[in-house]
Amino acid sequence: MDVITTVREMKAYVKAVRQRGETICLVPTMGYLHKGHLDLMRMGRNLSDHLMISIFVNPTQFGPAEDLSRYPRDFEQDRRLSGEVGVDSIFFPTPEEMYPKGYATYINVEGITGTLCGVSRPTHFRGVATVVAKLFNICEPDVAIFGEKDYQQLAVIRRMVEDLNMNVRVVAHPTVREEDGLAMSSRNKYLNGEQRVSALVLNRVLGMARDLVAGGERKTEAIRKKALDMIASTPDAVVDYVEIVHPETMQCIDMIEDRAILALAVKIGTTRLIDNTELKSS
Ligand code: PAF
Repeated sequence: MDVITTVREMKAYVKAVRQRGETICLVPTMGYLHKGHLDLMRMGRNLSDHLMISIFVNPTQFGPAEDLSRYPRDFEQDRRLSGEVGVDSIFFPTPEEMYPKGYATYINVEGITGTLCGVSRPTHFRGVATVVAKLFNICEPDVAIFGEKDYQQLAVIRRMVEDLNMNVRVVAHPTVREEDGLAMSSRNKYLNGEQRVSALVLNRVLGMARDLVAGGERKTEAIRKKALDMIASTPDAVVDYVEIVHPETMQCIDMIEDRAILALAVKIGTTRLIDNTELKSS
C-alpha cells in the first residue's frame, strides 16, 4: 500500500494509475478509522480497480470553538486497518500542503447548507465542500463514497458535483451501526459508560418516527414533539436540532408527502452526535 503526502506526488501517482487503465474509487476520511469506514472501503473495493482513501483532519470544517486539536488521530492504526481491507493507496497530506500560505478559495453551496448542522456550524459545509472539491481535483476519482450518517454532507456534495459539473459519481453507503443501534462515529470514543447508554436515544427516536409514519402519521410537528420529549427525558442529553426535511433541499417540511429525512443532532455530555433516517409515506 502506498502512502502519498504531497499534492505533486499524488497527481503523478494518479496519472500513472490512469495510464495503466485502472478506475479509481476514493473514500475521503478524517482518519481514526472504525468499522463504518472499513465498510465504505469494502464497498469501494468492488466499485473500482484502484481503491484510494484520504486521511486529512480538515481544519476549515471546524469552527473556532470546535474540537480540531482534540479530534482523535492514529495514523499507524489507520494504515494497518486500511491494508486489511485492500486499500491500494492513502493520501495523507498536512494542513500546510492542502492550505498553503496565501490560500484564498472556498466553495459555498447555498440554501441547502442553511438548515440542520449549518445553523449551529455556519462555516462547516464551506470547509467540507472546499476540501472535497480539492480532493476530487487532486485524486481524480471515478467514484467517491460517503456515508449516509452525514446526510446533509452527502446532499451538499451531490449538489456541488452537479452544479460544478464534476466528473465523479457520488455513491452513498448506509449508516453502519453498533449492535445496539448507535451509529458508528469517531466521536463515540468520548462517551463514558452512562453517556453511551444515553446516546441510544438517537436511534430510539428514529425507530419511533418510522413507527409513527408506518401507522399513518404525516404531520411532522407531531413526530418532532415526541422526539423532543424522548430526548428531554434522557440523562445528559441536550437537543441541538430535531428536524424533518426534504431529502434533497434539506428544507423543513410540514407534511410527509412521499419521502422525508428525520435528522437529529444531540449533545450527550459534551459530545455532539448526529443521526438520521428516511421516513417514507408508502
Ligand atoms: O465525513 C468526513 O469524514 C469529512 O467531512 C470529509 C468528507 C472527509 C471531509 O473532510
